[in-house]
Amino acid sequence: MVRINPSILSADFANLQAEVERISSADFVHVDIMDNHFVPNLTFGVRMTQRLHEVSPRPLDVHLMIDDPDRWAPDYARAGAECVTFHAEATTNPIELARTLRSIGSRAGIALKPGTPAGPYLELLDEFDQVLVMTVEPGFGGQSFMESTMPKLELLRAAADRTGSRVWLQVDGGIDLATIAIARDSGADTFVAGSAVFNSPDPDAQIALLRAAAQQHSH
Ligand code: DX5
Ligand code: ZN
Repeated sequence: MVRINPSILSADFANLQAEVERISSADFVHVDIMDNHFVPNLTFGVRMTQRLHEVSPRPLDVHLMIDDPDRWAPDYARAGAECVTFHAEATTNPIELARTLRSIGSRAGIALKPGTPAGPYLELLDEFDQVLVMTVEPGFGGQSFMESTMPKLELLRAAADRTGSRVWLQVDGGIDLATIAIARDSGADTFVAGSAVFNSPDPDAQIALLRAAAQQHSH
């Protein structure tokens, strides 16, 4: 199973309804929430998420790059996000927060910055529906894929396979037609792509190309 989740961080912010309609073949619409504290950039909040949920042809995959997700993340689940991913570096109690998100009815994801090890989570994969391995430093689209994060992804894939976990392994940052194959070979099944999709004249066609490139490398 390959999932392609375009990030609207690279879309036209003045026309987001039209932009999500241009990616109707996506599995999820990836929504990057930034608070100018956890990362040095600022995007959307709960109300925008709620409106996107109302107009989007596809479910929302919310990626919270914010401080204190323990306090704020449940609001995004209530706003209708199908999946809410918070950063391991920002939370004080990841298991409790994931359980809260699931109790509201959303999938729960945990994200790891490039320098954050996966070790503490390898035996806890059943507490999460998704682990997001950041393949750039979070904050901006259009950065280069960091292949140095692949051993961490391989560790997570091995742990998931060993325990029979159904957790999704997501990569985010610098994913394009070349790097998606590297991430797939290292165990990812869920791929975020911002600039690769929205800088293309035909985003849906680009999604199909990315999907084909990942499927060629199915493990
Ligand atoms: C970066 C965001 C990404 C970003 C990816 O902090 O989390 O979702 O949109 O953009 P590209 O695909 O251009 O690297
Ligand atoms: Zn993201």
